[in-house]
Amino acid sequence: MSDAAWHDVAADWQISAGNSIPVRIGEQELVLCNASGTLHALKNHCTHMGAPLDGGRITDTGIIVCPFHKARFNLVDGTAVSGKYETIPTYPVKVENGRVLIQA
Ligand code: FES
Repeated sequence: MSDAAWHDVAADWQISAGNSIPVRIGEQELVLCNASGTLHALKNHCTHMGAPLDGGRITDTGIIVCPFHKARFNLVDGTAVSGKYETIPTYPVKVENGRVLIQA
C-alpha cells in the first residue's frame, strides 16, 4: 500500500471515454485515460522512444496506443502488449464528488 498522497487533477467531465489527457502532479507528468468509463493513470512516457502518450487512442479493451509509433500498453498494469518495451508505471485513480484524484 502506497503512502503517496491523492491529488486532484481534473473534473470527471474533462476525460471522456476513449480519450487520454496529460496531467501534472508537481514535477511528475502523467496521462489520464478513460477506457469505456474506467479511469487509469500512467506515467506520460512511452518506453519505446520516450514520447508522451497523451492523445493516444484508448481501446475498449483497456489498451493505450502510443500516438508516435503505435506501441500498445495495458492500462491496468502498464505492460507492453506489442513489442518488448519496459513496463510503464501506473497510479491509482478514483473519482469523488465529480473530481478525479490520482495517488502519486
Ligand atoms: S515513442 Fe511510443 S511507440 Fe515510439
